[in-house]
Amino acid sequence: MNVNDVSFERERPDVYGDAHPKALLRVIQEDGDFLVKLANQHIVSGDQFDQDTMKQLFRLAAKIESNPKRFSSPLQNKILISAFYEPSTRTRLSFESAWHRLGGDIMSITDRSTTGIAKGECLADVAEMFNNYGDCVVLRDNNESSLFEMMDALRIPIINAGNGADEHPTQALSDMYAIFKWRPELVDPANNSKIRIGVIGVPNKMRTVRSFLKCLSVFPHAVDELVIIHDEASTADLFGAGQREELEARGIKITTSTELESILPTLDVVYINAISWEGDTFNTYGSAFHLTAKSPLKENAIILHPLARGEELATDLDHTAHNWYFSQARGAVFLRMALLTCMVERAERVIDVV
Ligand code: CP
Repeated sequence: MNVNDVSFERERPDVYGDAHPKALLRVIQEDGDFLVKLANQHIVSGDQFDQDTMKQLFRLAAKIESNPKRFSSPLQNKILISAFYEPSTRTRLSFESAWHRLGGDIMSITDRSTTGIAKGECLADVAEMFNNYGDCVVLRDNNESSLFEMMDALRIPIINAGNGADEHPTQALSDMYAIFKWRPELVDPANNSKIRIGVIGVPNKMRTVRSFLKCLSVFPHAVDELVIIHDEASTADLFGAGQREELEARGIKITTSTELESILPTLDVVYINAISWEGDTFNTYGSAFHLTAKSPLKENAIILHPLARGEELATDLDHTAHNWYFSQARGAVFLRMALLTCMVERAERVIDVV
């Protein structure tokens, strides 16, 4: 090793989705009532969020991101139980980072076999114990039903951080937060501003895509068209029962395509994901599709990816202005700070008008 090669730059480059959150903050008027209501809900699905609630969460996230040092204590004396029974880089660490930054304490379980579950304890009993030990639970479990088995016994809120192939609602909120930071004018229907979004993925198989489409469809005024780009192998089970109809009923115009190269030059946002969890393992879809710096993207198009990435997203895009996936992951910390604060009845500490 050359000891002269150990320095690094602390400053971020001026591309990579570096939109300042204040622009989004300015276009949304505060209405804290929608945030206060979040104290009495578990977070299970993207379906739970209406337009007003999402806008208030994005506003609060932007306020925190604009001045994080101001929000170092709202969760003092609150304990998070972070239970991740499936691998995670971003979700677990960003939830835990969010809680720490807000001044709270954390108990983390990363392997269910270290709990009574390994001895056959039922999830309802585990939940009953969680009531005594913490103020909020974040759960990732490859079993879709675990969340629901715990919910009935819980008297503290639980957040679904990914339940099998079903949903990942806080990822979707983070995706929407990134889009609105990029183009704040999309928030308001009166601006008549629309984008064309391409989703490279399988809505029926990918929890991130399923939740993203639910949240996106709450803002139909902002979507000119949604194009689902898929390979031939996924055609038969692209959508789950009623999934496409539900999105269309909310006002989203949907088309499908297997021709990535011809669609790419028409898209403002490209959302790509390739991993789908199924049972105890994951599958990789869409091996036919790859985005690289040479892909025929619109000059101002942005790429979103929930990550982790595989071959579908080339690293040569990281140093281009299309890269909003790193900003998407970074913004998730602030979005989760906003949500967590509200869920444990501390919204009044972070809203301006109580
Ligand atoms: N986006 C996401 O869920 O990433 P992790 O699997 O790393 O949590």
